Amino acid sequence: MTDHLSKSQAAEQSENAGSNPSSNPTMGEMIAERFNRRDLMKGILAVSAMAATVSPMAIAAAQGVNTTPSFNFKEISSVSNDQHEVAEGYDADILIRWGDKVLPNAPAFDPQAQTPAKQAGQFGYNNDYLGYIPLDGSRRGLLVVNHEYTNEELMFPSLPGRQDLRNVAFKDMTKDIVDIEMMAHGGSVLEVARGANGKWSVVENSRFARRITAETEMEITGPAAGADRMKTSYDPAGRKVRGMLNNCAGATTPWGTWLTCEENVNGYFWGRVADNHPEARNFRRMGIPGNWYNWGQYHDRFDIVKEPNEANRFGWVVEIDPHDPNSTPKKRTAMGRFKHEGAANIINADGRFVVYQGDDERFDYVYKFVTEGSVDRANPANNRDLLDRGTLFVARYNADGTGVWLPLIFGQGPLTAANGFNSQADVVIETRRAGDLLGATKMDRPEDVEANAKTNMVYVMLTSNNRRTPAQVDAANPRADNRFGHIVEMMPTGGDHASTTFRWEVLLRCGDPAVATVGATFHPNTTKDGWFGMPDNCAVDADGRLWIATDGNAPSKTGRADGVWALETAGPARGTSKLFYRCPNGAELCGPELTPDMETFFVAIQHPGEADEDDPNAKPVTFNTPSTRWPDFKDGVPPRPSIVAITKRGGGKIAV
Ligand code: FEO
Ligand code: CA
Ligand code: CA
Repeated sequence: MTDHLSKSQAAEQSENAGSNPSSNPTMGEMIAERFNRRDLMKGILAVSAMAATVSPMAIAAAQGVNTTPSFNFKEISSVSNDQHEVAEGYDADILIRWGDKVLPNAPAFDPQAQTPAKQAGQFGYNNDYLGYIPLDGSRRGLLVVNHEYTNEELMFPSLPGRQDLRNVAFKDMTKDIVDIEMMAHGGSVLEVARGANGKWSVVENSRFARRITAETEMEITGPAAGADRMKTSYDPAGRKVRGMLNNCAGATTPWGTWLTCEENVNGYFWGRVADNHPEARNFRRMGIPGNWYNWGQYHDRFDIVKEPNEANRFGWVVEIDPHDPNSTPKKRTAMGRFKHEGAANIINADGRFVVYQGDDERFDYVYKFVTEGSVDRANPANNRDLLDRGTLFVARYNADGTGVWLPLIFGQGPLTAANGFNSQADVVIETRRAGDLLGATKMDRPEDVEANAKTNMVYVMLTSNNRRTPAQVDAANPRADNRFGHIVEMMPTGGDHASTTFRWEVLLRCGDPAVATVGATFHPNTTKDGWFGMPDNCAVDADGRLWIATDGNAPSKTGRADGVWALETAGPARGTSKLFYRCPNGAELCGPELTPDMETFFVAIQHPGEADEDDPNAKPVTFNTPSTRWPDFKDGVPPRPSIVAITKRGGGKIAV
């Protein structure tokens, strides 16, 4: 979504950063570099600067973590045009596109004659997260892919631009188009293999091939299963639901399953309930109804007047076993209901499983879930329901550089009947409101949260927040009108991901470092192509290096396309960023994922051809007037969201 440009950053910056009490001058320099001087002057961070003498970086250094700059490739130019581009010496090959065959009986793609039945067997729209699950090391595996949403204005030749469509109450929409959209949502399971020539392809007629759609039956598990608020006319028991929606980021688990996360589920519902409706407060906090789609016109379950509880059955993390195409996906309600971005995870030293999660909304929270049981590495089947029992926590970032994980447990603290919570089901259904009552820190749109298994460092992508006022600035969200986002780094106490305490600091403030008022903190060696705005997804490769994928760069905002940047996190080069791959016009970079051997970098190119929303002269994009026809570049064929496999020419690890 667009964050409109507005007033520039205020405030003079002062040289007086106060005296650093650290006995370690190197850390003092790091602190001064990473915390903006204005904040130090304001006193907001004076305490944190002191406490940060034991910063996450210092802890990592003490652990002997490698601090050598680690990315080796020639940076590309940061432009935006109708093509994609990868660093010299690499190939970026299209693996699969919207409409390509997934199921054995799927017909060839014909964008002029699409039907729900055809789409149900073809690759869905707007590929977001992708995960690689090895079947035979890094040569053959399962690719699990989310299909987050649909751009009806680019998919269908009969429709006007998106805004126009909504302004006229979807008058050009038909039930057929809605049903195609429903089949284009969900996910795909693909078997992929790398040939002798080093090129990847989708294995045809694979026994693993699967399409999951907005109609696939799923099971509801965990604390909300069977709760009255989950019951509908279709499902009087409150234990099964059709489909998953707006699946954004995700993760794979060590036991070979796929965690796929429902994000902006509010957009699929319409209708209006009275202010005194029992779910009205819940709906308001989730932005329901969003009225982005008119599915409710043809399917009563998306009309909250007719079927109010249906909205409670979306907004969860779904676990899918991609090895069995007949398995029933499970909505794991113990991990809470909100606008889930991802579910990056790590096995804690004590064997428990920890899932980090962002809630992507301005002023929403960072969460983690810690399982009650431990991961059984020898018998994957024993982990089948591990994610149904455990504790969900929400993060509070203190100004002194410490942080606390606050447990969301029914009956504890304010999570009682006095505040409308009568069970753990209520706590997980209204996770956001529970977080409000616990005093969690309101963040600048938390997107991916990723743990580095080599260092135990945890990275939080905060994509932007153009609504934060100067009075709402805090240590963890240090800029008002935060148009370009930032990255927070967290170190769990003792490297224990189950700990309820942590240290944190701002790793990077994004935006153009050449514009002083932006206050970006890239390392000075970062080139004019190397900086970025709006961090969204991220990946940590097998060598522990951090890759950042962005959403929201455009000529009107940052003079560049979205893409993948390599970000140094340790040593003297910390904060240096380099552009490795860029998207075609209008597209967002999703799902960065490297194979275990680091020879292949899979990326998902989402919504190519969308408009540059902040360009006042931009014309609405449609099927006939997209901002690119990537990747086919054929008349009559619209742009197609696609998966790209990046490999080094002649073989070898990426960027080594
Ligand atoms: Fe679907 Fe938060 O991006
Ligand atoms: Ca995202
Ligand atoms: Ca995003």
